[in-house]
Amino acid sequence: MTQDTLLSKTPVGTRGDMIDPFGRHVSYLRVSVTDRCDFRCVYCMSEHMTFLPKRDLLSLEELDRLCSAFVDKGVKKLRITGGEPLVRKNIMWLFQALSRHLESGALEELTLTTNGSQLKKYAGDLKACGVKRINVSIDTLDEDKFKAITRWGSLPNVIEGLEAAEKAGLKVKLNAVALKGVNEHEIEDMIRFAHERGADLTFIETMPLGDIDGDRTDQYLPLSVVRARLLDTFTLKDIPYRTGGPARYVEVAETGGRLGFITPLTHNFCESCNRVRLTCTGTLYMCLGQDDAADLRAPLRASDNNELLSAAIDEAIGRKPLGHDFVIDRRSQKPAVGRHMSVTGG
Ligand code: GTP
Ligand code: 5AD
Ligand code: SF4
Repeated sequence: MTQDTLLSKTPVGTRGDMIDPFGRHVSYLRVSVTDRCDFRCVYCMSEHMTFLPKRDLLSLEELDRLCSAFVDKGVKKLRITGGEPLVRKNIMWLFQALSRHLESGALEELTLTTNGSQLKKYAGDLKACGVKRINVSIDTLDEDKFKAITRWGSLPNVIEGLEAAEKAGLKVKLNAVALKGVNEHEIEDMIRFAHERGADLTFIETMPLGDIDGDRTDQYLPLSVVRARLLDTFTLKDIPYRTGGPARYVEVAETGGRLGFITPLTHNFCESCNRVRLTCTGTLYMCLGQDDAADLRAPLRASDNNELLSAAIDEAIGRKPLGHDFVIDRRSQKPAVGRHMSVTGG
């Protein structure tokens, strides 16, 4: 279907909730609370990043007001991201504040995606704020490779963080970006590692966001290849399990665990996109892979009630694009969008 035919089919704003021009309900908000991180993953950042000056950040109170405005407009799932969300000062205040929407029933899930470096410190507090499930990035089980990928991270520290999360009663999903020549021969070990601890695991195709120091063509490993190779060792059964995210899951018969594939390059899932992304400066991106954005900071600060803000959100949802145009090959050397993943938190 073309954008035009889809556009003509779905009137915008005919119901209470947020519906985009293609008839997709927006019920999931991802909020990047900081663009900073204590790691420098090679596929995500260059080693020397310039971060936003702290004075440009929305305060935690403003983030709470913005998130709450989205909850009022029908958001059911809130994912806090970064950079690394747990390096933002006093971040537990925000989780605590947002947990009131879980208690009222307005919000179904409050969760986060983290690199795990601070989990030892925060796992118990997260659980106390109503967080049930967290996503933790681990791209390799080899300590030296982990250092090489994250540049600044420590695998033993992240594994201790995982143990703290499990002890606190948080369900964990592990995320691993599939990287050619780096973790491609560890995939089976990683599946066993995750499933032995009762965690789901998703593999992710690397996406061309922002300039990094290397060449993405060298990193890109299509998950269609990974899946085909896994059939030599494992029996994979497609299952209808969904989390509201883009992963498509299989059950691995030999381990009894769930394995997900996030395939923005080899299998585009934009037609079922249900999300928008808010940055720590109050910019709303309607698609991870497009530059178009809406400033929500000005309407937020212009008045104490949410009328202007609500109108700005409606206007932005009205221009949510159909999807991204990611390509990774030798001919397309420029990233699809200039900003790094750490600006929008994935
Ligand atoms: P759950 O399904 O709720 O567990 O979350 P998730 O897997 O969507 O979130 P997570 O933060 O763990 O992200 C995993 C990967 O999926 C990251 O690389 C994200 O960038 C990617 N991702 C999440 N949403 C989208 C999307 O709408 N489009 C694309 N292209 N990638 C996405
Ligand atoms: N492509 C794919 N995934 C990425 N992530 C960070 N940068 C990229 C990229 N360019 C992953 C992180 C984390 C999640 C939020 O996104 O590893 O698991
Ligand atoms: Fe930090 Fe996550 Fe980016 Fe790695 S992928 S540098 S942990 S924001």
